[in-house]
Amino acid sequence: MKKLFVLILMVAMGGFLLSSCGGNAQKSEKTKSAVTKTKTAFVANLDNGKKVYNKVCIACHMTGVAGAPALKDKARWTEIAAKGMKQLHHDAINGFTGKTGVMPARGSCTDCSDQDLYDAVSYMLKTAGVSAK
Ligand code: HEC
Repeated sequence: MKKLFVLILMVAMGGFLLSSCGGNAQKSEKTKSAVTKTKTAFVANLDNGKKVYNKVCIACHMTGVAGAPALKDKARWTEIAAKGMKQLHHDAINGFTGKTGVMPARGSCTDCSDQDLYDAVSYMLKTAGVSAK
């Protein structure tokens, strides 16, 4: 009987320790995400970028339909890249009217997330052979 009591006590203690550990982990997780929010949160996933490009952006950007910069037009992409990644991401999200045409907001892809667009822009820059800060 005494043994059983000790066993129950141990299980209860174990549960208590586990739950207090979980609580701590959650706390540190919260602090972590609060920190990353203040930094640039986007990290390019080029595989996803390729998928998004092939689904959406390719319609205009492969050959340069409607005044879009074609991916093989490195000179033009060099100029575009000089604007910086933040600006290009912003233009891909909100749309952009330039000298040669109109880039529709999100390339007209309503179900593309901001991350998808970041990935697609990164993929396009890489394919064009340029890089943006
Ligand atoms: C309907 C055609 C069309 C589609 C689809 C399209 N674009 Fe564009 N995009 C354009 C045009 C046109 C421009 C050039 C505007 C100019 O400079 O006059 C452009 C320019 C851009 C630029 C350069 C913006 C700048 O600040 O110079 C980026 C980045 C871009 N597109 C990203 C994308 C991405 C990412 C997608 C796919 C999600 C996409 N585009 C789909 C037409 C399109």
